Amino acid sequence: EDNIALQQLAQKMSLKATDVLMKLIQMGMGGVNINSTLDSDTAKLLASEFGYEVENVAKSDDDMIAEARGAAGAQEDLEARAPIVTVMGHVDHGKTSLLDRIRKANVAAGEAGGITQHIGAYRVDTGKGPIVFLDTPGHEAFTAMRARGAQATDVVVLVVAADDGVMPQTREAINHARAAEVPIIVAVNKIDKPGARPDQIRQELSGLGLQPEDWGGDTLFVNVSALSGENVDVLLENIALQTEIMELQANPAAAAEGVVLEAYLDKGRGVVANVLVQNGTLNQGDLMLAGVALGRIRALTDDRGRRVKNAGPATPVEVLGLPDLPQAGDQFFVVADQKKAQELVDARKKAVAAKAKTTTAKGLEDLYAMMK
Ligand code: GTP
Ligand code: MG
Repeated sequence: EDNIALQQLAQKMSLKATDVLMKLIQMGMGGVNINSTLDSDTAKLLASEFGYEVENVAKSDDDMIAEARGAAGAQEDLEARAPIVTVMGHVDHGKTSLLDRIRKANVAAGEAGGITQHIGAYRVDTGKGPIVFLDTPGHEAFTAMRARGAQATDVVVLVVAADDGVMPQTREAINHARAAEVPIIVAVNKIDKPGARPDQIRQELSGLGLQPEDWGGDTLFVNVSALSGENVDVLLENIALQTEIMELQANPAAAAEGVVLEAYLDKGRGVVANVLVQNGTLNQGDLMLAGVALGRIRALTDDRGRRVKNAGPATPVEVLGLPDLPQAGDQFFVVADQKKAQELVDARKKAVAAKAKTTTAKGLEDLYAMMK
């Protein structure tokens, strides 16, 4: 069971695969080559020849996920799915107001201090079909949230206030989108303001490689006002056009998988995890693994606070029933083999503990204390 590729073992020991192969042959192992897989006894013996103590040759996380998921992850019977759009931009440039306008509900006014504290996730019916929007905070402390948003997304809508300009979190959002290889649509917001200079914004963003289409480039720019609602329909149309050509698909019949957007502990309800289903359908009663949390789903709630029995592809949903807190950004999936899933959780917990041990040793004294 605990097999390991020769090359992987060599890598773990920071040795050349050819040197490891030579040693194997010296040890009298026949019929091996550079692409051989070794059983754990051979791996241990070999490692000890190089002075390593091997406790247990670990299976990779991916292998363990595949075992725990079973065949349920197969990508057959694909159907069209809603696009996932992340709204990013500098603090106060109007991300939440724009989403609010799109949803026609007043969320911005209800936020603590006017700053978006969490990724809000909404599935909106736009007349051009459903679109899932992820809101992100512009505050500089939330870099990880924006990185996560960019990864879970098909398109980034970059909001830039026309009376302000390109700011640090504007640049950072562009970098996240590029790192995730996600196309950017620019919403030049607040054009209702007397000081609005939308052409200046185009100029600045051109300097960062975002050339407007009407200037011969390939980036869509839309002048909007979240306040008056001007051109918000044009923005939605452009999102629909941009995502239509991507032919986004998912398999609703598969066991669900997706990403944790945020998770927190609620006194009454226990662990609350806001997740985005990316593929498959998540059902109440499913056994779910997210990060190091493995538990059965007790309740699902949609983005309008309604209890639901299931959530299909491209749906944000609140999950109750996990015994531990997953981390925002953790991938989740529905488990077919509980025992294998528990093994994966144990392996992950062990890895986390091992890492904590090495990073908390601040000096030699610390290290000696830990060795006792
Ligand atoms: P963070 O979540 O803190 O990053 O901010 P945000 O980008 O979500 O900005 P938010 O929507 O909270 O708007 C910030 C301020 O700009 C609020 O006072 C809004 O009323 C105002 N605002 C947003 N859009 C417009 C607009 O189109 N025109 C005008 N005049 N004001 C706007
Ligand atoms: Mg906001």
